[in-house]
Amino acid sequence: MTPRGKRADALGFLRSTPSSTNVQPNHFYVLATPEGKERLAANLGERFQDNSEKILKASHTVILTTRADLPGGHLQAVFDKERADGRFPDPAKQARWESMTRDFLNLRNYGYKDLNHWMEKQTYLAMGLTMMAAAELGVEAMPLEGFDPTSVDKAFKIRETGHTTTVLLALGYPDPAKVYNSPISRFETDQLFTFV
Ligand SMILES: Cc1cc2nc3c(=O)[nH]c(=O)nc-3n(C[C@H](O)[C@H](O)[C@H](O)COP(=O)(O)O)c2cc1C
Repeated sequence: MTPRGKRADALGFLRSTPSSTNVQPNHFYVLATPEGKERLAANLGERFQDNSEKILKASHTVILTTRADLPGGHLQAVFDKERADGRFPDPAKQARWESMTRDFLNLRNYGYKDLNHWMEKQTYLAMGLTMMAAAELGVEAMPLEGFDPTSVDKAFKIRETGHTTTVLLALGYPDPAKVYNSPISRFETDQLFTFV
């Protein structure tokens, strides 16, 4: 498959990842040009300069952003799209789904008070699944948390869209000279698993 085809597959995957209640709180900035990657690399924030080379050398870097709030218009857009896509052919079922979704979001917003945190969890799920899909396609995927979100938001005018940067994902092919050959280090299985 051509790199272009792989890009389409990886981005198609990013689009298809599930989110709780199908809330779809994301917008993804795909930086495929030198200018795009340079703008990000130059705006990581002072203490995160060591990540700039990883971004500049990547084939594509994705800025995964999450809604900073959840206005009624967004929820209505989700429901309208579900109806247009025929998600629930039975209109009564769609109506029940919408009511259940509103209840759940009220719980997150006013009960658990973790709406933003909850939405960002959906973003990490999208990133994790995309990393797995990239691996299947033979593409290296590097998650990056080393950046100042305020600075990245400003450089790409992201807050103006109602979103904020959550995490970055650099995609490409590894430099053989820089690939680590040392073992990966993880806790042993008896520390990780409890069988009941
Ligand atoms: C969510 C996440 C964010 C990360 N952010 C960075 C980063 O900003 N810069 C970096 O060099 N490595 C970053 N890493 C890489 C981790 O430091 C690395 O995966 C970890 O130390 C384990 O190393 P290994 O994957 O080579 O086994 C990140 C990894 C994850 C999962």
